[in-house]
Amino acid sequence: MIDISTTYMGLKLANPLIVGASGLTGTPEGIQKAAEAGAGAIVLKSLFEEQILTELGAEEKGIDLDAYPEAEAFISRTAWEKGTENYLEMLNEAKARAAGVPIFASINCVGSGTWASFASRIEKTGADGLELNIAFLPATTSLGSKDIEAKVLSTVREARRATKLPIQVKLGQHYSSLPNLAQALSKEGANALVLFNRFYRLDIDLKGMKLTRAQPLSGPDEYHESLRWVALLFQRAGLELTGATGIHDAETVTKFILAGAGAVQICSAIYKGGWKVIGSMVEDLGNILDSMGFSSLDAMRGKLSAQNSGKPADYLRLQYIKALTGIY
Ligand SMILES: Cc1cc2nc3c(=O)[nH]c(=O)nc-3n(C[C@H](O)[C@H](O)[C@H](O)COP(=O)(O)O)c2cc1C
Repeated sequence: MIDISTTYMGLKLANPLIVGASGLTGTPEGIQKAAEAGAGAIVLKSLFEEQILTELGAEEKGIDLDAYPEAEAFISRTAWEKGTENYLEMLNEAKARAAGVPIFASINCVGSGTWASFASRIEKTGADGLELNIAFLPATTSLGSKDIEAKVLSTVREARRATKLPIQVKLGQHYSSLPNLAQALSKEGANALVLFNRFYRLDIDLKGMKLTRAQPLSGPDEYHESLRWVALLFQRAGLELTGATGIHDAETVTKFILAGAGAVQICSAIYKGGWKVIGSMVEDLGNILDSMGFSSLDAMRGKLSAQNSGKPADYLRLQYIKALTGIY
């Protein structure tokens, strides 16, 4: 019998497949479906600051939602509490419907500090963990990489002060030195990193001469950068690692475990294939481990990380060379 259970951030998961924060996990019904489908853990849709602003009718009041950090100054305490109360109610009901599957709350934060007290309320409401979805786009020349990293670190510091819950930090991939930042995040009290978020993408509609949204769902060929960084950071930064983006089948899950991931997050695969995708991936994962001669995920984890692969330089390679591609 192949054991695909795992312990992640101190939580016992039946399998390493975590349903990522999204519309799929934005209602108690969605949480119940994820649990019934066999998810190892579930991340609730993020409580977005823009969402709170929208609740207040920010657009009608002429508040620019795109300029959130500035707009926040206009928002009353009452509006924050209305958004957060709804979220806590959802968390409460989600816990009741999840049949013991661990539930992570998720906050999309940019370091304002207002949400920090909310982290302790999340803990009291019964979340098993907290995901900080830190998504800050520096569209200004006045901020340097150190300033941005300081924001990320203070966000985690404030959350750690407010709660004892396991904290995972979900990042985008554009940081100057991810190993350095990862180690600093560990020192601030983060327990795991989720690599990487896949942000909203925009496009340009040439016929309409306007901005439009690009494909919101990932494809199965988008996992490579996440895989590289999981492999590079395995046992290097004092954090557990979750692979995310472009994970659509059990083969890819296996690659992430070999690279050193404690767990993986899936989202687009479920949007595309329905909840049954989770059961298929769980079954296939067991079969793959068996065919490769591993009796558990622990036995397999990190075998092909940068430090264990015997070819660490391959993970550092950025440029194509003829001998490698054989094509160009
Ligand atoms: C419709 C939709 C809604 C999402 N909402 C959130 C969210 O609330 N918080 C978050 O951290 N990520 C959110 N994401 C990102 C996903 O959690 C995930 O990181 C991303 O889709 C990449 O994983 P995938 O390739 O498995 O889809 C959302 C993604 C989609 C497609």
